Amino acid sequence: MIYSRIVGTGSYLPERVVTNDELAARMDTSDAWIRARTGIRQRHVAEPTQACSDLALPAARAALASAGLQASDVDLIIVATSTPDYVFPSTACLLQAKLGIKGCPAFDMQAVCSGFVYALAVADKFVRSGQHRCALVIGSEVFSRILDWNDRGTAVLFGDGAGAVVLRADSRPGVLGSVLHADGAYADILSVPGNVCGGKVIGSPLLQMDGQAVFKFAVRVLDEVARETLAQCGLQAKDVDWLIPHQANVRILDATVKKLGIDSAKLIVTVDKHGNTSAASIPLALDLAVRDGRIKPGQRVMLEGVGGGFTWGAALVEM
Ligand code: ACO
Repeated sequence: MIYSRIVGTGSYLPERVVTNDELAARMDTSDAWIRARTGIRQRHVAEPTQACSDLALPAARAALASAGLQASDVDLIIVATSTPDYVFPSTACLLQAKLGIKGCPAFDMQAVCSGFVYALAVADKFVRSGQHRCALVIGSEVFSRILDWNDRGTAVLFGDGAGAVVLRADSRPGVLGSVLHADGAYADILSVPGNVCGGKVIGSPLLQMDGQAVFKFAVRVLDEVARETLAQCGLQAKDVDWLIPHQANVRILDATVKKLGIDSAKLIVTVDKHGNTSAASIPLALDLAVRDGRIKPGQRVMLEGVGGGFTWGAALVEM
């Protein structure tokens, strides 16, 4: 039997840190409001010259280095992003060229904040099929580019960054199970409802959100999908060593860990330092907790995402 295992993790955050106080100097908000409603203290913002693939590259290199592998070992690249370099070619193809490799399939996954879990589940199936042995799975975002900096209700929430894992074929199970869902009936509560047509942007190129509707939806499905994934694996909440939900808002994270009945000490939180980095938030949090020694080999980690679409999903992995 062929399984897939995470054998390396990596991440990258742009150097520039934007604090809540810096935002408060630009718009009608305050550090106290942002911290109380979201738990966010700061976020990283990419330089104008840095595109999505520029963030993905150092994250991918760090993941390969931690796995002790070379770029030439990679035979599949999936980049989860909603803020790609271009309409086309895909960011995954651009990243492949920047890694100095060619030939292997490379494609983007667009499932907004669930993108990394979607990409991981897809890569797991490619590896289990026996046709691919070493996948780079990356979440990379420059959400600062699609924010309306006059809208205090959304501009304060997001940040830029990238996280990556190397997924390798193994005889021991690493990805124990995964579940993906979507419901397009909720498209309107979180969207960037624009497109490029005839040389112009038609509609809006900026993020719009019904914050309270998103909040309620996220708390409900993060609980449901974690339970569904545990049931698929024949395991219970007590068998989870670490919980990494998509890092949207600390109140969503707290509500999720409580509903699941998991000890809050097992919750990994990075939203305070990174803001919401959409598809990058889960692999960024995973890499941080692996590098600081909290997540150890053999432990079970529940990764779960929810985002625009609406999309949601979870993957239970043994490290
Ligand atoms: N600073 C100060 N005041 C603000 C700000 C701000 N940045 N933003 C909104 N307000 C004001 C509003 O204008 C409103 O004022 P009013 O009462 O005078 O009309 C008041 O604060 C309350 O606004 P609400 O929208 O009701 O505030 P709420 O408690 O719902 O918090 C928030 C808003 C933080 C967006 C919350 O709804 C939330 O976290 N929702 C989840 C959204 C999310 O996480 N999205 C991320 C993308 S989706 C995803 O990743 C899954």
